[in-house]
Amino acid sequence: MTDALHTERLLLTPLTLDHLDDYHRVYSDPRTWQHLPTGRHTSRGQSAQAIERSMQSVRTSGFGHCAVVLRAPVGTLGPGSFVGSAGASMLPFGAWNLGYRLAPEAWGHGIAGEAAALSLRAARRAQPDAAVTARVLANNPASVRVLERLGLDLVWQGASSDAPRGADDTTHLERLVFTDRPVDDDTLQAVIALG
Ligand SMILES: CC(C)(COP(=O)(O)OP(=O)(O)OC[C@H]1O[C@@H](n2cnc3c(N)ncnc32)[C@H](O)[C@@H]1OP(=O)(O)O)[C@@H](O)C(=O)NCCC(=O)NCCS
Repeated sequence: MTDALHTERLLLTPLTLDHLDDYHRVYSDPRTWQHLPTGRHTSRGQSAQAIERSMQSVRTSGFGHCAVVLRAPVGTLGPGSFVGSAGASMLPFGAWNLGYRLAPEAWGHGIAGEAAALSLRAARRAQPDAAVTARVLANNPASVRVLERLGLDLVWQGASSDAPRGADDTTHLERLVFTDRPVDDDTLQAVIALG
């Protein structure tokens, strides 16, 4: 992935450790994890590892997660504001995992939908044969709506385990799995198992 992605309002550039402060601000904010409190980053190291995983996805598969920065004012936020991340990472079984997380100040302006659409196109361009998948908690209707508006299809809904298997395990929570194309059962089961 060499080119930045943009719309009139947004600039998406591959995450690097230069984004660590801004990224950690969003990922350590409890409001951005209200649907999954155990996922909150409680240390800068966790955020650094997430960025490094994204950089690895870029190296191996041509795309990863991006910093989402405003090019135009949105609500109270000015141009140049870092508002979160969006992108896709390559899963070990050869499918993309699409995702996004935005600062609360940026919610409700269509930014997730716009950033996710750019990310979907970029993932398909980088690896056209890899299915794009996305997982979302059933209690997160705004995120479900973003995936529906992208045109992804709901292919599974449920919980991948009956009970938590450890303090940080969230496989018992109800999730929805979306894909951009039909996937074989092995791929679907592997996505479900991610929780
Ligand atoms: C979920 C999230 C990405 C949405 O960002 P956003 O920029 O506000 O999303 P958009 O404005 O592009 O679209 C949200 C859609 O959900 C709808 N929506 C918002 N709240 C809703 C609710 N409670 N119930 C149903 N729909 C809702 C909006 O109306 C909009 O749909 P529309 O375009 O048809 O009107 C953002 O709230 C966020 O980052 N949350 C925390 C992290 C997170 O949940 N990430 C996703 C993990 S899978």
